[in-house]
Amino acid sequence: MEFNIAVLGGDGIGPEVTDQGVRVLEAVGRAFGHNFNLSYGDIGGISIDKHGIPLIDHTIELLDTNDAVLFGAVGGPKWDAPDAKVRPEQGLLAMRAHMGVFANIRPVKVYPQLAESSVLKPEVIDGVDMVVVRELTGGLYYAEPRGRRETPNGIIAEDTMRYTEGEIERVLRVGFELARGRRKKLTSVDKANVLECSRLWRTVAARLGEEYSDIELEHVLVDACAMQLIQRPASFDVIVSENTFGDILSDEASVLAASMGLLPSASLTGVPVAGQRSGGLYEPIHGTAPDIAGRGIANPTGSILSVAMMVRYSLGLTEEGAAIELAVDRVLGQNARTADIALPGAGHVSTKEMGDLIVAAIEKAG
Ligand code: IPM
Ligand code: MN
Repeated sequence: MEFNIAVLGGDGIGPEVTDQGVRVLEAVGRAFGHNFNLSYGDIGGISIDKHGIPLIDHTIELLDTNDAVLFGAVGGPKWDAPDAKVRPEQGLLAMRAHMGVFANIRPVKVYPQLAESSVLKPEVIDGVDMVVVRELTGGLYYAEPRGRRETPNGIIAEDTMRYTEGEIERVLRVGFELARGRRKKLTSVDKANVLECSRLWRTVAARLGEEYSDIELEHVLVDACAMQLIQRPASFDVIVSENTFGDILSDEASVLAASMGLLPSASLTGVPVAGQRSGGLYEPIHGTAPDIAGRGIANPTGSILSVAMMVRYSLGLTEEGAAIELAVDRVLGQNARTADIALPGAGHVSTKEMGDLIVAAIEKAG
């Protein structure tokens, strides 16, 4: 089959890890007989440098005309001044909004091969297998008013958290549906003891909980959830929360998996269905890691596993997605370790070597 994919590497380690994701995609093409037409575009800081703004019309056209989007990361110290007028992150937020991808799905699982690389005790992380569903196009990241202004009493900065019932319901539904295909447990995270938005969130979650009576629903306050993620991580199945809480909790959850460099994500416009075709945005959850950018040592696994999610949820290629995940599993089993997951004193492979090994494992299986 033939597919069109937009590739937006972005900044920092974004392009180098995305390159390996693309190589894995091409390996899948060879092994399973598919053709991927790749169209490259700019986003973020590189786009600011080249065009003055973080998201240009050409890139927006790529979002509109391809079957899926593979994205790296944006941002970096070069564009980070607090008073900067244009920021790389605005490009990412505008892209998410343009695509309408309100459900950001971040699976977190612990590879037994990497138990020793985690900062947490093996018995605590044993059996961790959860999905964080983060609301992605609402809340503090988008609502108005926002901004900074001078007043007689000094400068005021403000952001607004606002959610409609509809925005809450649709992302919670994604969580409930995912839970149905898993261990049937949903943790709805809020701050209902303080925030109005969270009280609406909890009301909607409770109402849906009656509809999804086969799913065990728990409401957990976000601060308690932060603690429980470390204390009893294996007890979580699907976690759903609003944009900012989900951003923070998913970084925390990534620590369970030894390194955030391993973790993929899919941003979708509805419930993911393996085997069907529907647009989506796929990105590793890590950022641009400016400290290691260009050194060829970043872990490309997050991007590669994002490609697995992409072929499964946007291209309808279930078997191919599984083949990529199996290849990652095998390569970790062969003790290949990038710097982020290497044990102290042990050697490590480069970004490209990790890509080579995963490509080879796919070719062998195919
Ligand atoms: C993420 C990132 C982004 C976010 C930044 C780069 C704007 O942290 O994808 O989690 O906060 O959504
Ligand atoms: Mn984040």
